[in-house]
Amino acid sequence: AQRKQIDKVLALFRLTREQLVGVRDKMRVELEYGLKRDTHPLATVKMLPTYVCGMPDGTEKGKFLALDLGGTNFRVLLVKIRSGRRSVRMYNKIFAIPLEIMQGTGEELFDHIVQCIADFLDYMGLKGAQLPLGFTFSFPCRQESIDKGTLIEWTKGFKATDCEGEDVVDMLREAIKRRNEFDLDIVAVVNDTVGTMMTCGYEDRNCEVGLIAGTGSNMCYMEEMRNIELVEGDEGKMCINTEWGGFGDNGCLDDIRTQYDKEVDEGSLNPGKQRYEKMTSGMYLGEIVRQILIDLTKQGLLFRGQISERLRTRGIFETKFLSQIESDRLALLQVRRILQQLGLDSTCEDSIVVKEVCGAVSRRAAELYGAGLAAVVEKRREDQGFEHLKITVGVDGTLYKLHPHFSRILQETVKELAPRCDVTFMLSEDGSGKGAALITAVAKRLQQARG
Ligand code: BG6
Ligand code: GLC
Repeated sequence: AQRKQIDKVLALFRLTREQLVGVRDKMRVELEYGLKRDTHPLATVKMLPTYVCGMPDGTEKGKFLALDLGGTNFRVLLVKIRSGRRSVRMYNKIFAIPLEIMQGTGEELFDHIVQCIADFLDYMGLKGAQLPLGFTFSFPCRQESIDKGTLIEWTKGFKATDCEGEDVVDMLREAIKRRNEFDLDIVAVVNDTVGTMMTCGYEDRNCEVGLIAGTGSNMCYMEEMRNIELVEGDEGKMCINTEWGGFGDNGCLDDIRTQYDKEVDEGSLNPGKQRYEKMTSGMYLGEIVRQILIDLTKQGLLFRGQISERLRTRGIFETKFLSQIESDRLALLQVRRILQQLGLDSTCEDSIVVKEVCGAVSRRAAELYGAGLAAVVEKRREDQGFEHLKITVGVDGTLYKLHPHFSRILQETVKELAPRCDVTFMLSEDGSGKGAALITAVAKRLQQARG
């Protein structure tokens, strides 16, 4: 009887092929919707033009600073690009962003960022240097050029005040001015998906999609200019930051959302927003697992029916724990040890159930990613009128990198749902900072050419 009750919960996370086809087709509708002038303002998949119009061609060169804000780590980087040989050298330092700064005032946040830049310049012996800077800022921004980006709204764990509706490049410039210690030329603001696509595009010309499966969930791709109604001109292509994390915010995924997804949403910093992201990304998968475990415990099916204080604590199941628990090489005893580290006393049976729950939640996430990605590559294939499309997807993020099954299930799902596309997945080894520097190099070159 107990087994039946557990299976009933797990079954909520099992998606049929028809359901996944449905997700793919709805994603396709949302992608088209966001590209149209009339419907764009209402779109939940925002389809933001990035003003990045081409791949690096190998002639980029110079020394650049890059900032990388919005993932697990905040980094400041120095990137040296040599032309011709496609060789890039990078030096970087990771800095912490304390919670009270993520959720404090905008001024405090940007002062902190500038403080970190100052430390980095000091550390590298570059005090007083005047370098062009590329800013990877992994949140939805409305852009009208490569060096302007108005934050639409915070996502993930950020909530600093007085930033939404403001240009983040201006905010950074003003913070640099307040400090009055160095001058930097901020040339480009870039989403992490775009930086990742560029990093991979430097090695592989076929790379036209950037995918992040990390703290957050997002995708960008190269779109035909003629399809982008918001931007003048019909020639060539431009990268679109889809912000697909907002998929489902109009209710179109309600048929597959579970009560656990709703609880996670309601307990988050941005209820009602980023529903697809909350079913798929590292910041939330552990929370879904925790909600299920609480429910199973309430039903007396786990932890001897006792809900511990730990289990009530938000955020205990980080991506790295899920990844460890699901590792095939791990004996159940070790799963119990991980649970113990998390303050959860489990029996052997408990640990089996916990592992199954983690598996069901992460499998669904990978399948949902696959369905989303299938929609994009199919669109690219049809738009170009190809029978078959060969395309490379640049990928980054802790979920993709650390989880033992996520990448395989994602790839299998894409194959199944976009059979006429031959998709190569390329892991970005260097993060999106390198891509941001490449974009900065191109923008700088164009700036100089214009005089
Ligand atoms: C990193 C990129 O490698 O991946 C970041 O440089 C990006 O810009 C990140 O945000 C995404 O992964 P996570 O898991 O750190 O959110
Ligand atoms: C969130 C952000 C998006 C970013 C993604 C991955 O969805 O809104 O801009 O790309 O997380 O970091």
